[in-house]
Amino acid sequence: MSETSMSDNQFSKLFAIMITFMFCLTIFLIFLARSNSDDVQTALDGESQVGVNDIITERVEPVGEMMVGDAAVVAEVAVTDNTGGDVAAISGEQVYQASCAACHNSGIAGSPKFGDAAVWTDRIASGIETLYDHAINGFTGASGMMPAKGGNTALSDDEVRASVDYMVDKSQ
Ligand code: HEC
Repeated sequence: MSETSMSDNQFSKLFAIMITFMFCLTIFLIFLARSNSDDVQTALDGESQVGVNDIITERVEPVGEMMVGDAAVVAEVAVTDNTGGDVAAISGEQVYQASCAACHNSGIAGSPKFGDAAVWTDRIASGIETLYDHAINGFTGASGMMPAKGGNTALSDDEVRASVDYMVDKSQ
């Protein structure tokens, strides 16, 4: 037997210490795992609820919204429509810019050009009520097809009248 080898007595002491240490370590790790798993579970519970809410909100959202012209003006128009839309809540100029300018600014598709008095004289002579009617309900004349409310059906009749007033006012 060499000098460095342990006696049986020394070995069993060391062995006992090791066993005790490992036992304590095991107990400690079990506690650590338990307390952490609680935290993780709580975090998961909270998170998944938030996640589910998000998914639900996402799924019940409308697929898309139709935007014609200036988004802000269109949104405002939709809001006023819900309340009955008796009063033109936005100015004729705003309605014109959002829903009519696309055609009437340049006079495309045979539309009477904004500000061009020559093409408006005869139309104005037919009376403002006729112009309102044609703008609100649509009109197919000699030069082209005017869509009802310029294609923006969210507009109230009063808003269309206001935009006709604005166009007529600036085109004579
Ligand atoms: C898609 C293009 C287009 C848009 C958008 C459009 N118009 Fe027109 N509009 C026309 C055309 C084309 C005519 C000419 C029809 C004709 O006389 O043959 C016309 C004619 C008119 C007339 C004259 C009607 C008449 O009796 O002579 C008025 C008023 C008018 N539009 C108002 C509006 C207003 C108000 C809007 C916005 C709310 C609007 N338009 C948006 C194409 C458009």
